[in-house]
Amino acid sequence: MNILGIETSCDETAAAVVCTTGDTARPWKCLSNVIASQFDVHREWGGVVPELASRQHVRDICGVVERALADAACAWTDIDALAVTQGPGLVGSLLVGVSFAKAAAASLGRPVIPVHHLAGHIESIWLDHGDIPLPAVVLVVSGGHTSLYEVRSRGTYRLVGRTRDDAAGEAYDKVARLLGLGYPGGPVVDRRARHGNDRAVALPRPRFTGPSRSKPHLEGMTEFSFSGLKSAAVRLLQQRMQNGPLSDAEVDDVCASFQRVVVETLVDRTFHTAAAVGAKSVGIAGGVSANSRLRADAIAYGRERGVPVFVPALSLSTDNAAMIAAAGLRRLELGEMSDLGFNADPSLKMGK
Ligand code: KG4
Ligand code: ZN
Repeated sequence: MNILGIETSCDETAAAVVCTTGDTARPWKCLSNVIASQFDVHREWGGVVPELASRQHVRDICGVVERALADAACAWTDIDALAVTQGPGLVGSLLVGVSFAKAAAASLGRPVIPVHHLAGHIESIWLDHGDIPLPAVVLVVSGGHTSLYEVRSRGTYRLVGRTRDDAAGEAYDKVARLLGLGYPGGPVVDRRARHGNDRAVALPRPRFTGPSRSKPHLEGMTEFSFSGLKSAAVRLLQQRMQNGPLSDAEVDDVCASFQRVVVETLVDRTFHTAAAVGAKSVGIAGGVSANSRLRADAIAYGRERGVPVFVPALSLSTDNAAMIAAAGLRRLELGEMSDLGFNADPSLKMGK
């Protein structure tokens, strides 16, 4: 079976074809994965401008889908089903993908499966690694989300923790903006951090002692907070900049120190949650999972504790449509279908 995935939730127009293999250990294979990035459109504004994003999706969607079909050596008639991001995201952006997918499905007479964006990030782990030991705890960490899900059986996601305020990616982007490193900031901070001293600048590490709001029995150790760290970094930089611009070495040090605190927090909370729910493996997905230190530290931490860690390849970490196709295949495998009555939902929820 070939499924065409479409993702337009934010500032990337993406389409991909994923097929089933019949191999139970590695049931899915990515045949193409095309992404048209809008970085150049939004860069001068320092962040995503929703109106510009939806207009650019309209311009790009046909070409991106045609390219995904061509790369997969598929004709439209080889597509057995479609999957599309229903939400969460920017409504104008989501609408472009949803309308396109519904129209294509109607004209082909094929089913279309609406998918939650975070289900896509979670399934990117299965797409890349095949089956992983269950139960698993998966950290989804991106520009809009920092959430922990427990996966007891394939395709079921139970929310066990999340950020109380900002997402980790948001904090990365804010610090990068202040340092004049451009947008999106995560990849640049990651690169600059490699040359810096991660103890040079003292930044607070978020700690909770109270019970978790979302899951009282798991206490605060399953929750995240990045707004205090973000504000501390902003204050520190604003004070320092009164004495002139930072040297390259100082920028590297700020990046390294900030990154150490973020990564330590993410790794600590994820493994704490994994131990609390008796997880046999840990997954990390979403744009920030592309971070070199997060990958290295989580894998090392897991190895010390005998818990295998699964992170998708870089091409599947940041927003892409192959993960949406994979999540669509999962829904089909679980017998979940949809008619064409669904619509884009900018605040779509997943998990309880
Ligand atoms: O999943 P994603 O592509 O889009 C959302 O669903 O939000 O994640 C984008 C986020 C941005 O905040 C970006 O700065 C961050 O992921 N990011 C990184 C890295 N690559 C992307 N953060 C830290 N290190 C990276 N290497
Ligand atoms: Zn994402």
